[in-house]
Amino acid sequence: MSEFSATIQQADWKTEKHAPIIEAPETVQAGDLFPIRASLGKAIAHPNTAQHHIVWMGLYYLPTGAKQTIELAHADFSAHAASVTETPDPALTQPFMEARVQLAKSGTLQAVAYCNIHGVWQASKAIEVNPAPTVPPTA
Ligand SMILES: [Fe+2]
Repeated sequence: MSEFSATIQQADWKTEKHAPIIEAPETVQAGDLFPIRASLGKAIAHPNTAQHHIVWMGLYYLPTGAKQTIELAHADFSAHAASVTETPDPALTQPFMEARVQLAKSGTLQAVAYCNIHGVWQASKAIEVNPAPTVPPTA
């Protein structure tokens, strides 16, 4: 199979250093602003050198029932390419990102990470969004 989707890998982040980790509340209220963090290497550190590193990460949201995912944030960890000719590496960027978002309905958070040697890895996490409370009209 030659489709791009067939090359996307997935594993438990506790046993695979490339698997993204999504840190977000299990439940939020519609319209509330909250942080979502995506990273990797929390249990098993991924190499972070000019020769072997995470190039970028993306954070996405698939609302329940939707066909298309929504990109929430994207991070390029570009220090590595700038430091390839020096030893030690003068600057390195850890694969970590945070976005502050508001959601209107429940869905699935998705994180994707690209390693320059081992390809694309994904993870997902369900998030429940409760309706915002209605304020009764005042008399
Ligand atoms: Fe790797």
